[in-house]
Amino acid sequence: MKKLCLLGLFVSLASHQVLAAETPVPLENKDAFISNLMKQMTLDEKIGQLRLISIGPEMPRELIRKEIAGGNIGGTFNSITRAENRPMQDAAMRSRLKIPMFFAYDVIHGHRTIFPIPLALASSWDMDAIGQSGRVAAKEAAADSLDITFAPMVDISRDPRWGRSSEGFGEDTYLTSRIARVMVKAYQGETPSAADSIMASVKHFALYGAVEGGRDYNTVDMSPVKMYQDYLPPYRAAIDAGAGGVMVALNSINGIPATADTWLMNDLLRRDWGFKGLAVSDHGAIFELIKHGVARDGREAAKLAIKAGIDMSMNDTLYGKELPGLLKSGEIEQKHIDNAVREVLAAKYDMGLFKDPYLRIGKAEDDPADTYAESRLHRAEAREVARRSLVLLKNQNETLPLKKTAKVALVGPLAKAPIDMMGSWAAAGRPAQSVTLFDGMSAVIGDKANLIYARGANITGDKKVLDYLNFLNFDAPEVVDDPRPANVLIDEAVKAAKDADVIVAAVGESRGMSHESSSRTDLNIPETQRELIRALKATGKPLVLVLMNGRPLTILEENQSADAILETWFSGTEGGNAIADVLFGDYNPSGKLPVTFPRSVGQIPTYYNHLSIGRPFTPGKPGNYTSQYFDDTTGPLFPFGYGLSYTDFSLNDMALSSTTLNTTGKLDASVMVKNTGKRDGETVVQLYIQDVTGSMIRPVKELKNFQKIMLKAGEQKVVHFTITEDDLKFYNAQLKYAAEPGKFNVQIGLDSQDVKQQSFELL
Ligand code: BGC
Repeated sequence: MKKLCLLGLFVSLASHQVLAAETPVPLENKDAFISNLMKQMTLDEKIGQLRLISIGPEMPRELIRKEIAGGNIGGTFNSITRAENRPMQDAAMRSRLKIPMFFAYDVIHGHRTIFPIPLALASSWDMDAIGQSGRVAAKEAAADSLDITFAPMVDISRDPRWGRSSEGFGEDTYLTSRIARVMVKAYQGETPSAADSIMASVKHFALYGAVEGGRDYNTVDMSPVKMYQDYLPPYRAAIDAGAGGVMVALNSINGIPATADTWLMNDLLRRDWGFKGLAVSDHGAIFELIKHGVARDGREAAKLAIKAGIDMSMNDTLYGKELPGLLKSGEIEQKHIDNAVREVLAAKYDMGLFKDPYLRIGKAEDDPADTYAESRLHRAEAREVARRSLVLLKNQNETLPLKKTAKVALVGPLAKAPIDMMGSWAAAGRPAQSVTLFDGMSAVIGDKANLIYARGANITGDKKVLDYLNFLNFDAPEVVDDPRPANVLIDEAVKAAKDADVIVAAVGESRGMSHESSSRTDLNIPETQRELIRALKATGKPLVLVLMNGRPLTILEENQSADAILETWFSGTEGGNAIADVLFGDYNPSGKLPVTFPRSVGQIPTYYNHLSIGRPFTPGKPGNYTSQYFDDTTGPLFPFGYGLSYTDFSLNDMALSSTTLNTTGKLDASVMVKNTGKRDGETVVQLYIQDVTGSMIRPVKELKNFQKIMLKAGEQKVVHFTITEDDLKFYNAQLKYAAEPGKFNVQIGLDSQDVKQQSFELL
């Protein structure tokens, strides 16, 4: 294959009399190989490489293959099996220069085996588990002929109204940056050219998570310091970890759409950060430059995008239509097209496709007979990662863990919800293969008469919301109502509750409520379900809420009525088993929130690392003329970093190795952590630093490190963190990244609020 392919390049070269390289260039020499190939390409072939198209079920396959064979398409996404992609690669091999196609897909949290949604992965604070989820996803995707994913999504979000909060890793820059690195390495493995690796393209560059009002696709207006300090580092971390691609955000930043932003794409990304990979537009984003009002027509849109360094246009036709004319008229230069083509070819080279265009497609005789075969799933890994991502928010009177002999009333619209269990962006996950909470609990409860199920409520009673959620699939609606009246559903659940020792209510959002284009003004559990919870509470039976949702919800009332609350997000293919593991105590919960839970929507944005203010509110003192809302308690319902365990931990003897640090030195911060309870358990020890006085206002605290540790019942351990000057650096008003001498507070805690503190001076 290899030789044939190379030979093909030179044969076609001679027969088409395109400017030929004099001597064959070995494949090993990447730059020369690509330059040589580019010398042979016509303008049309070059522009063809910049086209990335979505393969929908309705697409005429024959036409697409013809276009590929004509050199008019560089890559596709959404076609996800070897059998589907092989004929397209065959078509590419029939093209004049035999430039291979690549095949992309949104592999966000698993491919066939669905892992917990990214926000849940972040809740594990477990880099090995997160890495494993990415590695499994890459292997499964590569085995299905995919070469590249549009992930990780590392947009910092401090506004849970934004539905895509579910796709990111939360509100914190440090935690998200660590995960960004881990995910890139997991997808790409040792090298993106390996047969079981896929290339990562970090998204959405940049600042998509900061859309105004949490309303999807809205504008972003942000100071440079905030950008550099809080929002840009995760993208940078992914790029430094070697991400081969970047997907450009749909939003504008300070008045310029990212897709037309030469500062963002050329000055920052390529010049300052040294990115050499592939920049892909988001879906239809080049065309949207007209809607943004920065391009008068398609021609201008294409000009702005190519000049900004958008290499590939996702699902619009403007490059093909407009670039030749723009070049002819001198409005763009050849180098603009060539730079983009070079980056596309280099990415294909890095995916190993010039060496072997069928690297991940393989031979037809080896294709899986059934792409959905159980044997292709990684259930054990998914269950292990999922249980590590669950966060215990409340556990009054040790309501949890449940006894396996208890009689349980399992109620709620999410108890038997295989689609929702997978969460949004569930790639090639199949609902029929996902374990619901009912399935998971049934597997544990021996006596089937001890598990009484009643739906209790529909997801929502609001017809408009229901229609919205089913917008894309009216034929086979994703959210299916039980047609019985609400009071009948509730009565049935109350009856089940009265017959049981304990109630487990699976409530929250359907997966589509936390999705792209699913912004909410209200973060309550929908009213139908709240009514159910009130009725269950009135039975007086112990009430356990199993929350399923893709963003922080406002659960003030439910927090008062429930005896225990387990935040499970959307936990993937093995979700039901993983949740049952925790409910019945086979796994002691260890997750911690990667986002703040507000008390109300009115508090948003609430994030733990806000800047210091001149008139802070002091708990316990009158609030007048301080920064707060007078009509509610100040502070979040659950802080960042929070999460309980079935055991208890204490922190003592926090110590710093010195009260001073010089710019080349190291400081050791330590604390004694003891498991004071009766069970073995894991917890996350978190290190926060506050720069007390600076040349500009600094956050009240910032996460700088953490360790997830396991302690046996009664065991204690000293946990050490090393602090260096690097941990103290920040972007000042001149955007200089440096530490400033002065006092720093170091805090160590098991969440961001309840901490021990010591101070030191940077000399
Ligand atoms: C989303 C991207 C996604 C792309 C391709 C867009 O609508 O914003 O995150 O990668 O579609 O599916």
